[in-house]
Amino acid sequence: MNIHSAAAVPAETMPDAQTVTQVHHWTDGLFSFRVTRPRSLRFRSGEFVMIGLPGDNGKPVQRAYSIASPSWDDELEFYSIKVPEGALTSRLQHIQTGDQIIVRPKPVGTLVLDALLPGKRLWMLATGTGIAPFASLLRDPETWERYEEVVLMHCCRTNAELAYGQTLVDALPDDPLIGEQIAGRLYYHPSATREKNRFTGRISDNLTSGRVYEDLGLARIDPEHDRAMLCGSMDFNRDVKAILEGLELNEGANSQPREFVLEKAFVGEGV
Ligand code: FAD
Ligand code: A2P
Repeated sequence: MNIHSAAAVPAETMPDAQTVTQVHHWTDGLFSFRVTRPRSLRFRSGEFVMIGLPGDNGKPVQRAYSIASPSWDDELEFYSIKVPEGALTSRLQHIQTGDQIIVRPKPVGTLVLDALLPGKRLWMLATGTGIAPFASLLRDPETWERYEEVVLMHCCRTNAELAYGQTLVDALPDDPLIGEQIAGRLYYHPSATREKNRFTGRISDNLTSGRVYEDLGLARIDPEHDRAMLCGSMDFNRDVKAILEGLELNEGANSQPREFVLEKAFVGEGV
């Protein structure tokens, strides 16, 4: 057990404690981990919860995290940034199997299938760790029951940052629940902006230039059949929201389903 470990505080003094079952470091700045699932936690794929570690003064350090595993999974998966000076992730990045973290069993969020009107094709548009809610939704059979096709666009600065999404997509055909149903129905567009890749450029640019339609051989987005979910930085969400609104898609919510929904992947500096 190292000094950064969540288990430095005895588990019995930690409310909502769950046990880490797996940790994988993708890059110096990104890792994913799995934890046991609180027995009381019911959530809809795409939602987020608060997770955290005990703080020095007895007050826990907690942050919002999208659940990356589907709602049927026995465990919970999270995909995380490592912020060097971050109150939570400077410590969370050191968790090991067997450690305990706090998981508050109160899921919320707008990236849920119920917040969209019925449609034929679902676009999942993510930058960075914004892919996490889509890792959940892609593995949920309900997504494939509701939509004929799903397009996943994931954009990061470097190719290495695309590895979590690529590994997820590569594993989908072997998924016991949805593997057989998705053949020919998933379109994947991973792009890097600061290195060469098969696909390059920002999602916003690839949508407005029409490059993504050419790359994947797809019809253009139309408000009658296309639905979208966005999860990225606030600038990304703002810019892509404007593009979708220009295509006559409207933003929806749990209380009023429409053609697209969005969620912040994180809250930027100074906000
Ligand atoms: P903080 O003090 O929270 O953040 C410091 C700075 O780091 C921020 O101001 C921002 O500039 C930057 N930053 C924080 N998070 C990110 C990020 N994910 N990507 C890029 N830059 C970032 N984070 C995840 O890693 N995975 C998730 O699934 C996730 N889901 C979220 C869902 C929601 C609805 C929201 C609002 C945030 C989510 N976040 C997620 C961000 C998360 O809540 C924390 O901000 C993050 O874990 C860093 O915590 P920290 O205390 O170390 O640093
Ligand atoms: P770029 O490299 O051109 O800034 P970040 O790490 O800053 O959150 O960015 C993650 C990815 O999202 C990067 O590839 C970045 O491209 C892209 N990005 C950042 N801001 C926007 C935006 N407003 N619209 C579209 N893509 C964006």
